[in-house]
Amino acid sequence: METHKQLTIGLFGFGVVGEGLYKVLQQTPSLKATIKKVCIKHAGKKREAPAELFTTDRDVILNDPDINVVVEVINESGPAFEIVSRALRSGKSVVSASKKMIAEHLPELLQLQKETNASLLYEAAACASIPVIRNLEEYYDNDLLHSIRAIVNGSTNFILTKMFEEKLGFQEALLLAQQLGFAESDPSLDVKGYDAANKWAFLLTHAYGIVVKIDDLVFSGIDHIQAGDAEVAREKHFDIKLVAQAKKLANGKVAAFVLPQFIRQDDHLVFVKNEFNGVVIESGFADKQFFYGKGAGSFPTASAVLSDLSALRYEYKYEYKKLYHHTPHELTDDFYIRVYLSFDDLKYIPTERFQAIEEWHADSDRKYLIGVIHFQDIKGQGWWRENGTSLVLTPDPIIEDMDVRKLKKKSLELAGLI
Ligand SMILES: NC(=O)c1ccc[n+]([C@@H]2O[C@H](COP(=O)([O-])OP(=O)(O)OC[C@H]3O[C@@H](n4cnc5c(N)ncnc54)[C@H](OP(=O)(O)O)[C@@H]3O)[C@@H](O)[C@H]2O)c1
Repeated sequence: METHKQLTIGLFGFGVVGEGLYKVLQQTPSLKATIKKVCIKHAGKKREAPAELFTTDRDVILNDPDINVVVEVINESGPAFEIVSRALRSGKSVVSASKKMIAEHLPELLQLQKETNASLLYEAAACASIPVIRNLEEYYDNDLLHSIRAIVNGSTNFILTKMFEEKLGFQEALLLAQQLGFAESDPSLDVKGYDAANKWAFLLTHAYGIVVKIDDLVFSGIDHIQAGDAEVAREKHFDIKLVAQAKKLANGKVAAFVLPQFIRQDDHLVFVKNEFNGVVIESGFADKQFFYGKGAGSFPTASAVLSDLSALRYEYKYEYKKLYHHTPHELTDDFYIRVYLSFDDLKYIPTERFQAIEEWHADSDRKYLIGVIHFQDIKGQGWWRENGTSLVLTPDPIIEDMDVRKLKKKSLELAGLI
């Protein structure tokens, strides 16, 4: 077997990640990887690399038999999928960082990898510098993964950190994130939770063998979180983080969602501040492990691409072990969650659907409650993100069926609600 394959790279994209990779490769000659051509969109832009390296014609790379690896780091999901599909079909290995494209096209990409037997690696697409995908594939290659909880979006984590530490309002914190380059000029993909949900969709495949579109996942961002919610969290000695999580329930099915959550001071995720990412994995016997690092940026992201390139020299492929070698897990909606809800007017809150209301505050113009509700009363429903309502999960939010029966059913009268 060829173990030290020479890599001749065709690079798509020379932006934050592409240029970062170009520089990183110049400093790692031992990898035996050379960039033969770079395809970009706008021919006229000034670049910090020789002009003859660049083309705007994707065929120059895709039809070149000497190029055995395509690195796709462009910022347009449709063209990215076309490039990756054609590269795989022509027998080239592919490294990609395009999380949106991967989440949108995972079933087709799985099929293409089967048909072509070509390797598609995308460690950079989730948590950039934190090696989470290969760990889920190789290290947690068994049925003992109890849960995975992660901060996968650096922009929203930066904004929440500033809301907490400097008591900024959401808009002020967002502006600061944009000024410092941690948030896009159109921040909606980040602050509305799409970016985190995209990453979570394919991490669920590597963690539990679940293939899911983000439309089938419950997720939200942080744009509804108000300064008052941060105040309540502070009083209770919690932080608020946007947490992507998945947990295997007693019945073997998996509960998964991406929602803001109150975080205790002894939770590993509380250490994840500003633009950093963090992942806490809980597995049988090993207990908890915590991964921490930069989830975006030129060199951190390029480092993950570099690691994938290095793996290609040894013909590495994702085997999707949880999907193909184990019985894949099933996603379930049949569990309860404990939530904090703040709102302007009680008439927008379906209080009758709560199993228990454990706290209730109505003393200021903004009211809140903490209670337990079935997940199906959240999934596919709009009430918890409309009319100024804000939903934040409490710590340890998942309650299984057998436990909910133990909850004391507090009547709404007792809670002071009606
Ligand atoms: N930035 C990060 O920290 C980070 C982290 C993890 C993952 N990612 C992902 O990595 C990818 C690249 O991100 P980025 O931040 O490097 O983007 P970026 O700075 O906006 O650069 C995008 C590059 O793609 C090129 N491009 C766009 N459409 C193209 C097309 N149809 N054909 C050829 N080239 C095209 C652009 O060409 P021109 O230069 O000619 O405009 C540009 O060089 C995205 O999918 C992103 O989600 C980024």
